Amino acid sequence: MTDLISRHQDIYAPVIGWDSDREIVASDGTWVTDADGKQYLDFACGIAVSNLGHQHPGVKQAVLDQIDRLWHAGGAFRYDSLVDAAEKLVAVSPDPVEQVFFMNSGAEAVEASVKMARKVTGRQGIIVFRGGFHGRTMGSVSYTTSKAKYRQGYHPLVGSVFVTPFPHPFEWRMSQEDADAMAIAELHRMLAHEITPGEVACMLVEPMQGEGGYYPASPAFLSALRSICDEHGILLIADEVQTGFGRTGEWFGSHTLGLRPDIVVYGKGIANGFPLSAVGSSRELFSQWPAGSHGTTYGGNPISCAASAATIDGLTEVLPGVAARSEHSFARFAEMKKTHSVIGDIRGLGLMIGVELVDENLDADPAAIGHVKSVGLEEGLFILDCGPKENVIRFLPPLNVSMEDLDRGLDIIDRALSSYEA
Ligand SMILES: Cc1ncc(COP(=O)(O)O)c(C=O)c1O
Repeated sequence: MTDLISRHQDIYAPVIGWDSDREIVASDGTWVTDADGKQYLDFACGIAVSNLGHQHPGVKQAVLDQIDRLWHAGGAFRYDSLVDAAEKLVAVSPDPVEQVFFMNSGAEAVEASVKMARKVTGRQGIIVFRGGFHGRTMGSVSYTTSKAKYRQGYHPLVGSVFVTPFPHPFEWRMSQEDADAMAIAELHRMLAHEITPGEVACMLVEPMQGEGGYYPASPAFLSALRSICDEHGILLIADEVQTGFGRTGEWFGSHTLGLRPDIVVYGKGIANGFPLSAVGSSRELFSQWPAGSHGTTYGGNPISCAASAATIDGLTEVLPGVAARSEHSFARFAEMKKTHSVIGDIRGLGLMIGVELVDENLDADPAAIGHVKSVGLEEGLFILDCGPKENVIRFLPPLNVSMEDLDRGLDIIDRALSSYEA
């Protein structure tokens, strides 16, 4: 353990769970370097944030240029990097987004989206999906059900939040179609027994559940939600915090899955590592959220906005290459599944891939992940897990990873699975 790690442990509140004790001193592209000079492939990307890798030249230059001009404004005056970032974000967003509003973190943007939905509809009910993750603030943790421990000790949470199942075909041991049908039937039961549709302000859904275990929704399930929302005047909020900015192979999960949300929540990859988040919607909906109803001091920080505009430019170049990297990764995992019985399921979109590790009864095998992560650290790979039982490999390489580095990382996982089963 380096001196820095012991100082870190001494001075820094232990409330956040760190994934490793490595001290990182430098970064470049897909690689980071520790205090001993050892290099690691960073396939965690700061939890799906640095989609263009570290030290991206375009983002770096935009930040340096902006630092020389203006680095904070608050709401006191207006400035160009915010407008540039907003215009670029709207241009790549799913319909019907015509305007955006910037904040600092995903949780904050989730809060704002729900506040907006309540204000605009005049209704109170909030429908969320079991296994969803939306953040750690009091509001966003009230919508989060990926793990009960995130909520433990914080009750009472925000009221009038109703939790309904999200289709988990592998966990439920059924086909996607059957899981979709079951989840939709449960939603209808909820609307019959617990809250009338006319009292519901919004449904908040991740197009692909992230923290909850990397379960993509099917287009059919999302389209059924859209129909129910349309029928009852409920606003559909897509939390694209993790699925956004190229992760699913297109700009947003909504594009990949054919979803037309009313409100979009953005975060994580929006500025490749600089703190920024946003909500987006139509002019019509935003016009019903009057000035002064919401606000922020740091949201839309000039440097973060400059980074975001450059990130969107960078992603425009990188996105066409994601499909080949995704196909290659899925093919490699499928190949591994033939020889590693610990792989129960492989699922995901683009370069957001979950590999669920299980025992012979198909029950979660979190020890396997622990092994993969520690072999990764030994051999030079940072990789995360997800899922309520922490048994899903969360495969998140940078979107511009070279094929060579992609294979290096996949080889390490393959070897780790072999030595686990040996
Ligand atoms: C889907 C989703 N929504 C919201 C959040 C919260 O974002 P933040 O940690 O920036 O508050 C996360 C973070 O992991 C997320 O994955």
